[in-house]
Amino acid sequence: MRVFIDTPEKIAEMAAQKYVDLLRRKPNAILGGATGSTPLGLYAQLAKLCSEGKVSFKDATSFNLDEYVGLDGTHDQSYRYFMNENLFKHIDIPIERTFVPSGIDTDPATAAAYDEAIKAAGGIDMQLLGIGNNGHIGFNEPGTPFGSITHMVELTESTRTANARFFNSIDEVPTHAVTMGIKTVMNARSIILMAIGKAKAEIIKATIQGEVTPQVPASVLQLHPDVDVFLDYEAAALL
Ligand code: GLP
Repeated sequence: MRVFIDTPEKIAEMAAQKYVDLLRRKPNAILGGATGSTPLGLYAQLAKLCSEGKVSFKDATSFNLDEYVGLDGTHDQSYRYFMNENLFKHIDIPIERTFVPSGIDTDPATAAAYDEAIKAAGGIDMQLLGIGNNGHIGFNEPGTPFGSITHMVELTESTRTANARFFNSIDEVPTHAVTMGIKTVMNARSIILMAIGKAKAEIIKATIQGEVTPQVPASVLQLHPDVDVFLDYEAAALL
């Protein structure tokens, strides 16, 4: 793992540069997208670079990590909506080449087909990840087997509580989600992990310097050969 520590603004720029480099080398790259507040600075930077003609996504394809069960793409808390509003609308990627797992069709076969679609597209070149306070990546909660592919999960109370800030009340936070599995994520050729803020400091320490264990899903990234970790000073405070 290569670990970079700077301000939130600077790490957004550094992560954006990874996209610029990849898309210059491989204009039809397959990108793995993430939601949450952490990537917002990066997405704003990508939108800026794209509007300035410094990067183009016109031949790229994107597969997102996860989606809430029960929310369709028109719901303003769905991850499809989030991606459209915070990234896809502002860059030149053809919307028909952007994929988000279905939160409506929760048939296990449909979830598994998401992995097949990724494979058929050539596999993910660069997967972006945030991290949950409990170490989840995508919505792979502690205890998820490292061999898992895209599947439906029950969200932990801690995750529902953490994400309740985006809903009117915790009762509105979905209880389940569909997420790429740990194996799906680890199959990506390269990975970017981002974390911002002091609430992430402990789990970042466990992820980077702790034991590799399904109890800290992100710790599996220690086993991946090509991971860049971008942290702000607060998230890196305990390293
Ligand atoms: C959600 C998403 C994760 C994300 C995490 C952290 O639960 N499923 O992909 O990494 O939240 O979110 P934030 O970046 O807002 O801290």
